[in-house]
Amino acid sequence: MIYPIYIYGHPVLRKTAEDIPLDYPDLQQLIDDMYETMFHADGVGLAAPQIGLPIRVVTIGLDVLSDEYPEYKDFKRAYINPHIIETAGEEVVMEEGCLSVPGIHESVKRPSKIRVTYLDEQMQEHDEWVEGFLARVMQHEFDHLEGHVFVDRVSPIRRQLLKSKLTNLLKGKVRCSYKTKSC
Ligand code: NI
Repeated sequence: MIYPIYIYGHPVLRKTAEDIPLDYPDLQQLIDDMYETMFHADGVGLAAPQIGLPIRVVTIGLDVLSDEYPEYKDFKRAYINPHIIETAGEEVVMEEGCLSVPGIHESVKRPSKIRVTYLDEQMQEHDEWVEGFLARVMQHEFDHLEGHVFVDRVSPIRRQLLKSKLTNLLKGKVRCSYKTKSC
């Protein structure tokens, strides 16, 4: 099932998402639906708050980048109860976009390496260091779980320039190819 994607301004995107219990009902169905929703919207990542659920579940799919990054061939993973424990490396600037903020792409500075803990789809625990493009996508997605959206992290000057676009999103004026839900 394809969910509508909640748009910038919806209060669910500002909540701190909760860890889920190991027996969370129909988790596999939720993960499958998140993959479907994410791929349908041509996204590389989706966090549960973006479909209205303030829980710590994220899907990431990077196969679309595998021409440039062969290591991401068939990369499709779900992260349950993820937490960033440590960061390291240089701060790097990369352009980001977000399915909840359609029409806006901005440079964001983030650490290049992160140490993350999470459960995978088989409920196996992981504690690992991640770098490269995956570390970037994870930080963007895990930010959603803390109630942050990437435009919070752009410079004040850039934010000022984005103001009218963001105001349009807040007013429910949204143009994109997928189904959305505004506040
Ligand atoms: Ni996003």
